[in-house]
Amino acid sequence: MSLTQPQPPVQRLEAAVPVAPSGPPEDDAPLVVRPGERRRQPAGRRSSDRRSYVPSGRTGCRIVDLPRVNDPRGNLTFVEAEDTIPFAIERVYYLYDVPGGESRGGHAHRELEQFVIAAAGSFEVLVDNGEHTERFFLNRSYYGLYIPRMVWREIDEFSSGSVCLVMASHHYDEADYYRDYDEFLAAARPGDRAA
Ligand code: TYD
Repeated sequence: MSLTQPQPPVQRLEAAVPVAPSGPPEDDAPLVVRPGERRRQPAGRRSSDRRSYVPSGRTGCRIVDLPRVNDPRGNLTFVEAEDTIPFAIERVYYLYDVPGGESRGGHAHRELEQFVIAAAGSFEVLVDNGEHTERFFLNRSYYGLYIPRMVWREIDEFSSGSVCLVMASHHYDEADYYRDYDEFLAAARPGDRAA
């Protein structure tokens, strides 16, 4: 599959703060590197850091900063259906043992909504709603990416030992998939056919 649009910059949600932050909650917001700001330095606080929540990106996908219960015995994060994420969870699946260089996804869904978490390690998610593309870097288990219906997604750059945990709004249904990118585009941009 080759996307027709240029590759978007990666939105890196870097762990510039410790897992058990001592600062106020707003100081713990995901860091979003906007186009042209891609960080070339290791993560760390700098006066030029710009922090922002992403309420909704240009594709309709958004990062959710999940609750964290910090504990010296180990931290805990939870997801509550129809609260933390805007749908009832009917299915959970996970990708693991992904060989280096492999990519997953490469499809869109007619109705399915999903919520993606890097439960271990890191990976990148390219999303495309037919009009815009965005690329998210997930590397902390307390950030999740909400993907609405009708968004093409590709997941790649898996780190060794990573686990991609996905919560889905419906049971598996092959009929819900667009596996052909052109077919997806025709459905996502029906106006183009009339033009
Ligand atoms: P698929 O969604 O195509 O994964 P990817 O896009 O990451 O390659 O699923 C791969 C296979 O696994 C496909 O044959 C269907 C099967 N599958 C299930 O049986 N149940 C599920 O919940 C999922 C996600 C996939």
